[in-house]
Amino acid sequence: MKVGIFDSGLGGLTVVSAISEIFKGAEIFYIADTAYAPYGEKTPEEILNRCDNITKYLIEKHNIDALIVACNTATSAAIKYLRNSFTNLIVIGTEPGIKPAILITKSLKVGVLATPATLKGSKYQGLVNDLSNIKKVQLFEQACIGLVEQIEKGEINSEKTYQMLVKWLNPMKKNSVDTIVLGCTHYPLISSIIRKIMQENINLIETGNAIANRLLSLSLQKGHINQGTLNISICHTGKININMIEKILENKNIQIRNCTI
Ligand code: DGL
Repeated sequence: MKVGIFDSGLGGLTVVSAISEIFKGAEIFYIADTAYAPYGEKTPEEILNRCDNITKYLIEKHNIDALIVACNTATSAAIKYLRNSFTNLIVIGTEPGIKPAILITKSLKVGVLATPATLKGSKYQGLVNDLSNIKKVQLFEQACIGLVEQIEKGEINSEKTYQMLVKWLNPMKKNSVDTIVLGCTHYPLISSIIRKIMQENINLIETGNAIANRLLSLSLQKGHINQGTLNISICHTGKININMIEKILENKNIQIRNCTI
């Protein structure tokens, strides 16, 4: 099984990390599209264009069987197009985990942290509308402008990142939010800071494990045998913080190189 996975940078590696816990006997080709990061502040057309180019590259160069869009922003802009255009591939997208959040909240107040493009997208709006019948929950949506850049720079524990989060999370804290959706695959990398600011026993919802389970089940249906080693090749289109990669995928069998797409 050859699996292509991409994101604008390091964020999708949180999904790769979850996959590496349960998926075996396969090759993973990860594209960190750092030359075009952040996606969340680009137009849907620009994002779709990158998704198209990257998918074609993964097919031509690596002959992938499955594609994982490990990015909420890219999924919002392009998943429909990718599913319609590459019908031979297993295609899995990433969506903010609003449903699990709605099911778990006790205060009926849920925070959603995501990129501006994800929150503006019709996919997110549709998801919220569809789920509004399950339970009446108040959503506190926050577009986190600049946060992806901080994470890409490795500035996870910096004062600037902390202050950005304090500004966004304080209104949630004051309003008794007990569950926060991490609607961007970069954000699990700062979950310890979110917990520190929110203090209470906050539920943080991320979707890496759900994506990993979905990949495993669809692959098994296609005859994949889940045994042996998992090789991970990481290719970055622009600058990347290698220390961060090693931290996210510690002790994993990885190769890192540069590429142009
Ligand atoms: N990791 C991406 C996501 O899940 C977004 C990053 C970006 O803005 O580039 O939305």
